[in-house]
Amino acid sequence: MSKTWTLLAWALIPGCALSFSGWSQPLSPLHQQRQRELAQSAHKNLACTDCHPRGVDPVLRPKMEPVTCGSCHPAEAAVYQESIHGQEAAKGNPDVPTCASCHGSHAVAPVSSPESRVSMENLPQTCSACHESLALAQKYGIPGRRYSTYLFSFHGEANRFGQVTVANCASCHGTHNIFPSRDPRSTVNPKNLVRTCGQCHPNATRNFARGKVHVEATPENSKGVFVVRTFYYWFIGTLVALFALHIVLDLYGRGRRRVQPEAKR
Ligand code: HEC
Ligand code: HEC
Ligand code: HEC
Ligand code: HEC
Ligand code: HEC
Ligand code: HEC
Repeated sequence: MSKTWTLLAWALIPGCALSFSGWSQPLSPLHQQRQRELAQSAHKNLACTDCHPRGVDPVLRPKMEPVTCGSCHPAEAAVYQESIHGQEAAKGNPDVPTCASCHGSHAVAPVSSPESRVSMENLPQTCSACHESLALAQKYGIPGRRYSTYLFSFHGEANRFGQVTVANCASCHGTHNIFPSRDPRSTVNPKNLVRTCGQCHPNATRNFARGKVHVEATPENSKGVFVVRTFYYWFIGTLVALFALHIVLDLYGRGRRRVQPEAKR
C-alpha cells in the first residue's frame, strides 16, 4: 500500500515540474498567433523568453511584464529617451508612443520592408493615428490634422501616389529624436530647417524653407489660403445650385407645356 503511494509521489514530481514549465500545456490560440507573427518578423531568430524573460506560460503569466526593447537596441533607446515622446513615456504618460506603438510588438518588420509600420508608405498613418486627432491635440495644446495637411502638401500627394523619394513625417521631424519645433534640437526648428530641407533640396535657402508645411486653411493659421478657399467653396457651390435650379425650372416648364399644349403661347 505505502509502496504505491511512494511510486505515485515520485511520478507527481516530474509531472508538476513539466506542467509548471508550461511544457505540457498546448499553446493558447493567442500564443500561437504571436508565434506565427514572430516567425515572420525581423526577430524570427529570437525566443519568446528573449523579450519575456519570465516566460510566456498562459497560466503562470496571464499578464506580461513590460518589454524592454532597449536591452538589445541601446542606441535607439538612448535617443528615444531624450525625445518628447520618450520623456513623456518615462513619466508614465500612456498617450505617447513606445517602441511597440511605432514598430509593432511581435510583427516587427525590418524597416526597409514595405510591410513595416515605419516604411515610407506607412509611416504617415502610423504617426497620424495620434496626430490627426483634434481631441488629443487639444489635450496637449499642439496642432492636430497633421495627416490631412500633409496629404494636402506636394510631398503628401506624391507619397500617396507611391513616390518614395519625397519627404514623409520622419524626413522632416526625425524618428527617435522628435522634439517640438520650438526646441532648438528639433530638426524643424526654424534654425535647422534649411539643413533639413537641404538634404533633398540642395539649393534650399531661408526663403524656400520659410513656407508653411502643414497648411491649415483657417483664418488663424493661413489667412490667404482660407480666404481663397472659402471664396471658391461658395462660388462653385452657388454656381452648382443655380445650374440645378435652372434644370429643375426647365423640366418643370417642359412638363407643363406637354400637359397643356396651349400653354405654349
Ligand atoms: C521582440 C520582442 C518580443 C518577443 C520575441 C516576443 N514578444 Fe510577446 N510581447 C512583446 C511586446 C512588446 C508585448 C506587449 C507588452 C507590453 O505592452 O509591453 C508582448 C505581449 C505578449 C502577450 C500579451 C498580450 C498580447 O496581446 O499579445 C503574449 C500572450 C505574448 N506576448 C506572447 C509571446 C509569445 C508566445 C512569444 C514567442 C513565440 C513572444 N510573445 C515573443 C514582445 C515580444
Ligand atoms: C515615433 C515612432 C517611433 C518610435 C517611438 C520608435 N521608433 Fe524606431 N524607428 C522609427 C522610424 C521612423 C525608423 C526609421 C525607418 C527608416 O529608416 O526608414 C526607426 C528605425 C528603427 C530601427 C532600425 C535602425 C535605425 O535606427 O534606423 C530600430 C532597431 C528601431 N527603430 C528600434 C526602436 C526602439 C528600440 C524603440 C524604442 C526605444 C523605437 N525604435 C521607437 C520610428 C519609431
Ligand atoms: C533579445 C534582443 C532583442 C530584443 C529584446 C529586441 N530586439 Fe529588435 N532586433 C534584434 C535583432 C538580433 C535584430 C536583427 C538585426 C539585424 O537583422 O541586423 C533586431 C531587429 C529589429 C528591427 C529591424 C531593424 C532593421 O534594421 O530593419 C527593429 C525595428 C527592431 N528590432 C525593433 C525592436 C522592438 C520594437 C523591440 C521591442 C518590442 C525589440 N526590437 C526587441 C534583437 C532584439
Ligand atoms: C501613440 C500616439 C503617438 C504617435 C504614434 C506619435 N506621436 Fe507624436 N506625440 C504624441 C503626444 C501625446 C504628444 C504630446 C506630448 C506632450 O506634449 O507632452 C506628441 C508630441 C509630438 C511632437 C511635439 C509637439 C509639440 O509641439 O509639443 C511632434 C513634433 C510629434 N509628436 C511628431 C510625431 C511624429 C513625426 C510621429 C511619427 C514618427 C509621432 N509623433 C508619433 C503622440 C504620438
Ligand atoms: C516637409 C517637412 C515636413 C513633413 C513632411 C511633415 N512635417 Fe510636421 N512640421 C514641419 C514643420 C516645419 C513644422 C513647424 C511649422 C509648421 O507648422 O509648419 C511642423 C509641425 C508639426 C507638428 C506641430 C508641433 C511642432 O513641433 O510645431 C506636428 C505634431 C507635426 N508637424 C507632425 C507631423 C506628422 C505626423 C507628419 C506626417 C504625417 C508631418 N508632420 C510631416 C515639417 C514637416
Ligand atoms: C526626403 C527628401 C525631402 C525632404 C527632407 C524635403 N523634400 Fe521637398 N521634395 C522632395 C522631392 C523628391 C520633391 C519632388 C521633386 C521636385 O519636384 O523637386 C519635393 C518637392 C517639394 C516642393 C514642390 C516642388 C518644388 O520643387 O517646388 C516643395 C515646395 C518642397 N518640396 C518643399 C520642401 C520644404 C520646405 C522642405 C523642408 C521643410 C522639404 N521640401 C523637405 C523631397 C524632400
